[in-house]
Amino acid sequence: MRSIHTRAVHAGRDELTALGVHALPIDLSTTYPLTDADSGERALLELAEGAPAAGSPVYGRLINPTVSRFERALAELEGLPDAVAFGSGMAALVATVQAACLVTGRRHVVALRPLYGGTDHLLTSGILGVEVTFADAGEVAAAIRQDTGLVIAETPANPTLDLVDLDALVAAAGKVPVLVDNTFATPVLQNPAAHGATYVLHSATKYLGGHGDAMGGIVAAPAEQAAAIRSLRIATGALLHPMSAYLLHRGLATLPLRVEAAQRTAAELAARLSVHPAVSAVHYPGLAGSDPHGVLGRQLRGPGAVLSFETFEESDAMLAELRLFTHAVSLGSVDSLVERPAALTHRLVPDADRLACGISPKLVRVSVGLEDVEDLWSDLDAALEVLIRINVIRITS
Ligand SMILES: Cc1ncc(COP(=O)(O)O)c(C=O)c1O
Repeated sequence: MRSIHTRAVHAGRDELTALGVHALPIDLSTTYPLTDADSGERALLELAEGAPAAGSPVYGRLINPTVSRFERALAELEGLPDAVAFGSGMAALVATVQAACLVTGRRHVVALRPLYGGTDHLLTSGILGVEVTFADAGEVAAAIRQDTGLVIAETPANPTLDLVDLDALVAAAGKVPVLVDNTFATPVLQNPAAHGATYVLHSATKYLGGHGDAMGGIVAAPAEQAAAIRSLRIATGALLHPMSAYLLHRGLATLPLRVEAAQRTAAELAARLSVHPAVSAVHYPGLAGSDPHGVLGRQLRGPGAVLSFETFEESDAMLAELRLFTHAVSLGSVDSLVERPAALTHRLVPDADRLACGISPKLVRVSVGLEDVEDLWSDLDAALEVLIRINVIRITS
């Protein structure tokens, strides 16, 4: 197989030469002229069944050529036959749960914590009409029931970077399909389908687009499962906008370079943070104790560019001092972002559940961007010094 660097540049672009264009075309049509009534009706019925393409897109909510190209590209990078793109990662998750659980009548979900706070909230809120059992990796086999339709895991997990052994998880799930949120690793560092995952989900808003200017979600899956999801997307109207599809697809070309560069910097920052006197713990794959099941190398090809750390003191004073790291939610952009999950991304997770999966109020999540490592370290170190000064003042006053 060709290198990920080559595939990321060329994926989803096969037809461009035949179209006579070099850049990805953006099709903004909301409706499509039909050559005759029969072919229009045929296309409509095929698309309603979830076909990835038909004689005509018929209507802009059903399918869109710019979106389809992005879907083919991501499916190729994840090593799955198809992918379905949505207006956000959450919309992709909702449709996948609906397809795997509501459509099949298997309304029970087993989920591993931690998960992105929005995912956790969606599962616990009851709005999806599914029953959820949260389980540790070792409890999954026992948690599976006759009516379990889906197992959900994130690895590396948001925000503690916990790693899940996907071979073991898929074995424990048995016949139940496993959904892996691969947002943190991206297809550059991990392909969950190669370890038996049925669904591979991305908040495309993060690394795939990579520039913080396009929302999107995408789930890669085998053809049958993708058709069920696409059919739901048509019914519910959650198609990704073609402008965003263009930006997200364009982002794929530089994905390997961005991930690798940010990862180098993240590894260096993680190492320096782990010996900083203001820091009590650092969470980053590859640091001692972070990989109990040995997935790094076997499943995860690199530690990635997100890390989190805990400070001895409340960290809000430090966040206010940072100049290069923007205090903001989201991640995976060219610029570095920092946030406190207990206050923001995981705020809607019940306090006890949040603490039980290691998200303390002092935990700070860092998405490392493409800035120079020494500049980032100077900024972080200066901000951490403020915490030390506050602590010293408290002790001496
Ligand atoms: C790991 C992960 N999955 C899913 C989502 C949801 O994606 P979106 O915000 O695009 O709906 C997020 C958002 O932060 C995330 O971090």
